[in-house]
Amino acid sequence: MKIQLSSLDVLHARTDCLVVAVREGAQQPPSTRKIERASKGLIKSLMASGDIDGRPGNVLLVPFPSGIQAKRLLLVGVGDKPDIDDLASAALAAARQLCSTQSVSAVVTLTEVAVTGTDATTRARVISQAIQEASYRFNQLKTSKGKEAARRQCTVNRVSLLASSGKNDTAMRTGIQEACAIANGVALAKDLSNLPGNLCTPSYLANQARKLGKSHKLKVNVLDEAKMKALGMGALLSVSRGSREPARLIVMEHQGGQRSDKPVVLVGKGLTFDAGGISLKPAAAMDEMKYDMCGGASVFGAMVAASELKLKLNVIGIVPSSENLPDGAANKPGDIVTSMSGKTIEILNTDAEGRLILCDALTYAERYKPAAIIDIATLTGACVVALGHPATGLFSPDDKLAEELLACGESARDRAWRMPIWDEYQKQLNSPFADIANIGGRTAGAVTAACFLSRFTKNMAWAHLDIAGTAWHSGANKGATGRPVSMLTRFLINRTRR
Ligand code: BES
Ligand code: MN
Ligand code: ZN
Repeated sequence: MKIQLSSLDVLHARTDCLVVAVREGAQQPPSTRKIERASKGLIKSLMASGDIDGRPGNVLLVPFPSGIQAKRLLLVGVGDKPDIDDLASAALAAARQLCSTQSVSAVVTLTEVAVTGTDATTRARVISQAIQEASYRFNQLKTSKGKEAARRQCTVNRVSLLASSGKNDTAMRTGIQEACAIANGVALAKDLSNLPGNLCTPSYLANQARKLGKSHKLKVNVLDEAKMKALGMGALLSVSRGSREPARLIVMEHQGGQRSDKPVVLVGKGLTFDAGGISLKPAAAMDEMKYDMCGGASVFGAMVAASELKLKLNVIGIVPSSENLPDGAANKPGDIVTSMSGKTIEILNTDAEGRLILCDALTYAERYKPAAIIDIATLTGACVVALGHPATGLFSPDDKLAEELLACGESARDRAWRMPIWDEYQKQLNSPFADIANIGGRTAGAVTAACFLSRFTKNMAWAHLDIAGTAWHSGANKGATGRPVSMLTRFLINRTRR
């Protein structure tokens, strides 16, 4: 999809769909007023009849509108005094409706809407991201052809955002550019995540990384099991031992900064299917454990965005990837393994495998002397219980880094909520036989998982994002969300400005 800024005359624009904002009570935006005049009161009468009421997200499609050149007029309510949330929900509702038409081109005038407490870059970014979000489809495994396949597709591929007087054009172009890079990262993360476990294996992810290396000028290095063994990654390898698919440790580098600049390191859990191992999960909804690599997918997505934005920053993405299955060689409860750090781990539950693959990846990451290291993982069901689906769980002993990430989540509209990681919780991980146990008992499961990881990140500015509740939707709209690519990309962009 191509999104660009255009100054055009809304009355004469030959487009498949003209998207225009309608306010609840207050004065209408300029384009809306122009159309109102040209159509001899169309919008007022539609409001009088109650067909559109101006509430944020309320939409009405008017085919063959009179008085203007566009084939369709799409009215969208933005409320009375819209804030950025109203603009975002209006843009998403409009974009969904737009994508359900057969339009190829569209002109979107929502850039005119005055939004309290925000700038032109943010507005353009929010509108552009909503359009891209609505146009995402995952059809690659459907075999239907012809009309049926066409119906599934979103036909929109050229969108013009209406430019304002000119003074904000540069700012708006920045917003569009950021949105497009983020949307490409989000779409990649969604595609990888939605692929089932039989197709998206650790080797598949490694091959995708190699492809990205070529298409996005990333330096890619993939460690196979022999290399990991030589490094002493006994925790990671104990997980893949129970599966026929060999593990991979994928390393991607975006070198946008000076050679000597310390990198930001992103470490994403890439568990391509989590059956729980010998501590087998119940059958219900187990298919969703194909999403246990969403953290890894978000690292792929953030690397793509960093590369497309040519960020002047060194970024390293590390994705430890494995399956977690039960077989004769699988971990057994009570097994004790030695991690790359040298610490021994008593595996009391083989389903707490994410931390086992992450701890070795985190130890490996130390060699890069990170300016900051962030791990992203669908780590615990307990995080979903604590925060539900709106918020990612954020854990960090580093107040500055935590505040920075929270702020990025806010401005990217991809929010996190900070959880405690106090020393008091650490004792729940005591083991009578090893240095540490891999589970911390019934209470505070998301916190003790984070505490486990903290043992391997002592020398780094580290934060952990538990995305178990935010990485995908269940139910009728089952599918990956691409979170937290937006938050991570915001973080990377902001780090270039320090
Ligand atoms: N991948 C799961 C976490 C998960 C569960 C994410 C449900 C999203 C939805 C993780 O590997 C896991 O199984 N964690 C266990 C930990 C427990 C054994 C301490 C869990 O959350 O039940
Ligand atoms: Mn598990
Ligand atoms: Zn898991």
